[in-house]
Amino acid sequence: MNIRLFFTPAGIGDEQINGRTAVVIDILRATTVAAVALDNGAREIIPAANLGDATSIREKLDRSTVQLGGEREGRKVEGFDLGNSPFEYDREAVENKTVILATTNGSAAILKGGEAKHCLSCAFVNLTATLDKILKIGNDVSIICAGNKGGFSLEDALCGGMLVDKLLAADNAVELDNDAAFVAQGLYHKHRENLEDALHKSDHGKYLDNLGFAKDITFCAQEDHLTICPVWQSGRLTLQE
Ligand code: MLT
Repeated sequence: MNIRLFFTPAGIGDEQINGRTAVVIDILRATTVAAVALDNGAREIIPAANLGDATSIREKLDRSTVQLGGEREGRKVEGFDLGNSPFEYDREAVENKTVILATTNGSAAILKGGEAKHCLSCAFVNLTATLDKILKIGNDVSIICAGNKGGFSLEDALCGGMLVDKLLAADNAVELDNDAAFVAQGLYHKHRENLEDALHKSDHGKYLDNLGFAKDITFCAQEDHLTICPVWQSGRLTLQE
C-alpha cells in the first residue's frame, strides 16, 4: 500500500487521487463535526463548496429534515441553523437530519477527496475507525489535509502524521510515496505526547481560542472518542457502506 500526503488540497491533480482512497482531515473543525454529527444520528452530510451552493441545496430539500451548518471566519453564518462547533451537532439537533455543511476549508477538501475512488473523513476523534476502514479497503491512500486558506495547518498535519505512523505499524507492505508523508510523521512524533497543547498553539487554535471556542479544541484533540468512519457516497458522507 502506497501512501501520499498533501498539506493542502491546492494543486492536487487527478493523478494524485485516481483509483485511490482519499482520506480528508480538517481537525478544527469540519471533519470532527462530520464524525460527531453522523455518530449522533445524522442521515448524511452534504458538503457545500460555498454559501450560495449551501442555500440552493437546502431549497431543494424538505426544510424540516435539514440542518444548514458551517462557518465563515469561525463564526456561524447569518441565516444558518448551526455553526461549526462539534457541541452544536448533538442528537437533538441532527438525528435523522440531512446536514449541509459549508465551511471555509473542510467542505472544499471533502469535495476534492470525493473525486477519488473511495473517500473517508478522518479526525483524531475517529482515527482508529478510519485506519481500520483504510486497511479493509486495501487501496493506495492519498491523505488530504484541509489546511487553512491554501496554507499549512499544524493540526491537520499532526493527524495526517499519526495516520501515517499507524498505517506503517499496521502493515509491512505500507510505503511512503512523498516527502510530505515523512514530514508529517516526524511532526507527529515531536508532538504526540501532547497533541492538545499543539492544537491550542496552532494558528487556527489560537484564533478559535480568541473567539471563545477553547472547549472545541480540547474536544477535537480527543483520540478515538468515536468508533465510526464517515464514507463518501454519491455526493455525501454517510455511515452506509
Ligand atoms: C474550516 O473548514 O475551515 C473549518 O472547519 C473552520 C472552523 O471550524 O473554524
